[in-house]
Amino acid sequence: METSDARFSFAKFAAHPFFREVNAWLVARAGIRPGADVVDLGCGPGAITELILQRMGVPPLGRVFAIDPSSSALMLAAQRIQSAIVRFVQGTAERLSSLVPQVDTVVFCNAIHLVPDKAQVIAAISNVLRPGGVLAFNTTFFEGAYAGDSLRFYKHWGLRAMRCLRERGHAVVRDAKTTAMQWLTPEEYRRLLADSGFAETEVEFQEKQLPCQAWEDISEFSMFIEGALPGIPLEIGMEALKVGARQTFEDLRLQAVPRIWMQVVARRG
Ligand SMILES: C[S@@+](CC[C@H](N)C(=O)[O-])C[C@H]1O[C@@H](n2cnc3c(N)ncnc32)[C@H](O)[C@@H]1O
Repeated sequence: METSDARFSFAKFAAHPFFREVNAWLVARAGIRPGADVVDLGCGPGAITELILQRMGVPPLGRVFAIDPSSSALMLAAQRIQSAIVRFVQGTAERLSSLVPQVDTVVFCNAIHLVPDKAQVIAAISNVLRPGGVLAFNTTFFEGAYAGDSLRFYKHWGLRAMRCLRERGHAVVRDAKTTAMQWLTPEEYRRLLADSGFAETEVEFQEKQLPCQAWEDISEFSMFIEGALPGIPLEIGMEALKVGARQTFEDLRLQAVPRIWMQVVARRG
């Protein structure tokens, strides 16, 4: 599968200061202590693994299981993080209980929207958490993620990207829906958590301003391209999205576009 190609990695987007800020905020609230057992679920190229490690003490104590289905993402993460307490494991959230022992904390950043059956995955996470354990997750793909009048930006971006594709002789299959498009409301997430035995759930919303470069960088990430332009080869989709983002910033005279992160911290009963 093309998604295993390191050229289409999440790493560039994850290097932006706003990204670090929003995720460091969440990781700080997960209550991670030195000596704990922690899962970094959907670790990708390792930006969150790094934030978790910073909470494990000096020298670090405990265990971090960094899990991702993508071999290329795991390779980038392993190059970036060399720590005796971090174990990289290839696998999915759906199979979590076969991959890790009981743990104190599961951190699941910027990935829950990608799983088709969110109820099953939240139940799988609950199963590996010790009583009182914490699940911290966030996403910018939920009902309410579009801040202010930013819908205008997305519509214009879509049109410009389509025009670029047409000029290169490609067409998007309009009804090819991907899982990245299945957005839940905050209430629906709350309900799924309660159904899986999470007793306390705190939800916060944080808005960040994303400059043009951030939209160009997310346009390099395979799963984003597949979600935005289903059926289009990654190289071509990436180019169309980047050109579209640049033109949209110019056409609408934008400096930045806001996006809202939903930050969730839930404690297992
Ligand atoms: C947008 S990246 C986020 C990476 C990292 N958590 C971060 O915030 O920097 C999403 C990651 O979720 C992974 N992913 C996709 N489906 C998954 C699943 N079913 N279980 C676990 N991880 C998954 C992808 O391979 C990708 O590395």
